[in-house]
Amino acid sequence: MKKVFSGIRPTGDIHIGNYLGAINQWVQLQEENDCIFSIVDWHAITTPYNESTLQDTILEVASIYLACGVDPKKCILFTQSDVKQHTELTWLLGSITPLGELQRMTQFKDKSKKHKEYINAGLINYPILMASDILLYDAELVPVGKDQTQHVELTRNIAQKFNNKYGETFILPESLISKEGATIYSLQEPDKKMSKTGDPKGCIGIFDSPEDIKKKVMSAQTDSENEIRFDLTKKKGISNLLNIYSLFSKKSIKDIEKEFEGKGYGDFKKSLTELLIDKLKIIQENRMEKEDIKKILEKGKKLAEARAEQKMKVVRKRMGLAL
Ligand code: TYM
Repeated sequence: MKKVFSGIRPTGDIHIGNYLGAINQWVQLQEENDCIFSIVDWHAITTPYNESTLQDTILEVASIYLACGVDPKKCILFTQSDVKQHTELTWLLGSITPLGELQRMTQFKDKSKKHKEYINAGLINYPILMASDILLYDAELVPVGKDQTQHVELTRNIAQKFNNKYGETFILPESLISKEGATIYSLQEPDKKMSKTGDPKGCIGIFDSPEDIKKKVMSAQTDSENEIRFDLTKKKGISNLLNIYSLFSKKSIKDIEKEFEGKGYGDFKKSLTELLIDKLKIIQENRMEKEDIKKILEKGKKLAEARAEQKMKVVRKRMGLAL
């Protein structure tokens, strides 16, 4: 049984990339591990966001976790900002994290390019907050998509630095990347990852309507060959669709290629549309009432807080901040 931590930012709609890269793994991991999953709202405010809808978005993300099968009886589910120890640890770890390491983070570079008017100290400190999320709970495994591996590496470096300076305190975590769901690409720009902030037509939300799913899949970028074959270098668009098909249908890519031999992209896209509508409908129908979700998060807060405070007691002592 391993300790596991992961989270998603409540920014806009959760998409099938988040589901296949992260949540899908969580649902499996909770069966045999000690899992903590969070809605990481403090991470969401480092890029432009709407304060009047943030609380609704947090509940929406929680409802998606639950609808996808995250089970509060088998794991702890909470909102990051409910547990103040995350910010305390972020400040403390900030005192041993070299600025240069933060500046070389790909996501910091990408986001500061995208939001030139919004390059704030929070954005550069973002990975320290993520390290705190993970280290507070002694997580050994961090199930994420490929784009987060650099942050988990940095978390290891920070933990190691702390242990060297103040004595063994933190576990060095490892990221857990699902082989196939590691990166789901945009349906419109298949060389970019599917993202909440990219072209909306390239991103399928978990709560998208059947009409939207159909429009997005049928207009997905492919190539002129009209041959359904997996080739990530030459046929990125169709390979991404094959990958999505395979993950949702649990069929191997080879079997799907065989099934569609001699058929065109139109047929394949139609089948993928039906599959996605079917699978997402099951998730959509599992949606819980807001009041029930609030109760689950309240219970999660208490459980997470107790663990976080226990850890912080040790950290404060090690750093000479408490007797
Ligand atoms: P976020 O909110 O950008 O994404 C949440 C999770 O979804 C994965 N993901 C993808 N996987 C495959 N294909 C894609 N196109 C795709 N897009 C997103 C991400 O890799 C991630 O696993 N910093 C994190 C949130 C975070 C966190 C943590 C994660 C904060 N603290 C502690 C783990 C542990 C983030 O911005 O993820």
